[in-house]
Amino acid sequence: MLDNVVPAIQFDRVEKSFGSLKVLKGISGFINPGEVVAIIGPSGCGKSTLLRCFNRLEKINGGRLTVNGIDLSRSNLTSQQLRQLRADVGMVFQHFNLFPHMTVLENLALAPQKVLGQSAKEGSRTARFFLDKVGLAQKAEAYPDQLSGGQKQRVRSPVPSA
Ligand SMILES: Nc1ncnc2c1ncn2[C@@H]1O[C@H](COP(=O)(O)OP(=O)(O)OP(=O)(O)O)[C@@H](O)[C@H]1O
Ligand SMILES: [Mg+2]
Repeated sequence: MLDNVVPAIQFDRVEKSFGSLKVLKGISGFINPGEVVAIIGPSGCGKSTLLRCFNRLEKINGGRLTVNGIDLSRSNLTSQQLRQLRADVGMVFQHFNLFPHMTVLENLALAPQKVLGQSAKEGSRTARFFLDKVGLAQKAEAYPDQLSGGQKQRVRSPVPSA
């Protein structure tokens, strides 16, 4: 750990089980602000579970976990703290989780409106900006089932708050 740097994510002997299946067995580490870290390992070893713990989609069963100064080991987090956490911690789901009845643009503009309080116009503008960056500007009005697998993945990835 570097002197004077407060880690963005710090985990200490974190445990997570699903029933009798122990997935995270006391893992520790930290990630500094701006640091890029790849988590690698065999299928089923717990990579997604760890990421899901980082924004409290899963509750840890043991150890300590702090993300952006919020202690996720506590069970009495307020909805305000959870909202703040999830506004800061973006997650690209392994499955694309696009709403099938909404266009690409509507899918992307939804979270900024709900989470950041952006207007529909503002949300669409941000969405178009990022879609252009990943070469999908021409797919803004398309529905998810009209996209290739890679295009769905890129739709899911561009907007930080999604
Ligand atoms: N909600 C759940 N209920 C029960 N078991 C679960 C649940 N979620 C994950 N598991 C199990 O926990 C283990 C870790 O799953 P996880 O999704 O974290 O793996 P992963 O490392 O991301 O794998 P992959 O590389 O295949 O995506 C697996 O054995 C999985 O079957
Ligand atoms: Mg996974």
